Amino acid sequence: MTTIKKRIDESLQKYGIAILPPMDAFASMQVLQENKFHFSCSVLDPWYNKGVGGVLPNSEYDLFIKNLLESAGSLSDLIYLWGFPEIIGPYVRYAPADFKMSAWLTWYYKNCPSVIRGWRSSQNACIQFVKKGVSLHPENFLNDLQKEKLETGKMRFIPGPSTVIEEPLIVGFVGKKERTGHPSQKPEAVYQRIVLMATSENDLVVDVMAGSGTTGAVCQKQKRKCVLCDMNDDYISMMEKRLNVPRIRM
Ligand SMILES: C[S@@+](CC[C@H](N)C(=O)[O-])C[C@H]1O[C@@H](n2cnc3c(N)ncnc32)[C@H](O)[C@@H]1O
Repeated sequence: MTTIKKRIDESLQKYGIAILPPMDAFASMQVLQENKFHFSCSVLDPWYNKGVGGVLPNSEYDLFIKNLLESAGSLSDLIYLWGFPEIIGPYVRYAPADFKMSAWLTWYYKNCPSVIRGWRSSQNACIQFVKKGVSLHPENFLNDLQKEKLETGKMRFIPGPSTVIEEPLIVGFVGKKERTGHPSQKPEAVYQRIVLMATSENDLVVDVMAGSGTTGAVCQKQKRKCVLCDMNDDYISMMEKRLNVPRIRM
């Protein structure tokens, strides 16, 4: 067993979370692939090619996303790709081999403060790609009464949650307790839905562009295991503090 695999396994066993040292997303996915990790779910939340994080020519950003999806596809059973709808819309066609797009999710927020000469943003999009034969987990959204009905065979179908997630942006006074200072931090309430739909307890999730570690925070609370990375050293420190988990040293 390689040292890195041993360290990731130890951290997952001790904390339920493994934070890799700062690395490019493709490098971290390669490390995980070489060490034969496999995940129930990959979260891909790159910079959006608009504003924060800079803007690449469209063809470069296209190739970046296509390659990200391909690498995530070889590591996991289900992939979420986040972005603004007008940017990620075309990537519906980049479903990796053996995957299909299974949902277009909209995160709708009313409290975006930006006012520009045009439409005011009030949504982010998330494409869900699922590998053939892999099942989702709508049962994780049932209330106690519905769970009882399901267990006693009295439920004719399992209702799933809406593809529109309405939660405010973490901005101003909203989400102060969660806020880390990362410029693009997502609310945990938003990530909780996507993690629950993709996993059961103890399943393994990966986020290689994890920013402030929202995916990890949700996994800790929902008893899922999670490997996190980001290319930025400051964000890795942010995750260590938020999740109370030290990074792995290679
Ligand atoms: C939109 S933010 C993610 C925010 C995160 N979901 C959260 O809730 O905090 C994008 C993150 O991707 C990271 N990133 C961008 N390109 C990357 C790359 N090629 N490799 C690794 N990380 C990258 C950035 O450093 C940034 O933290």
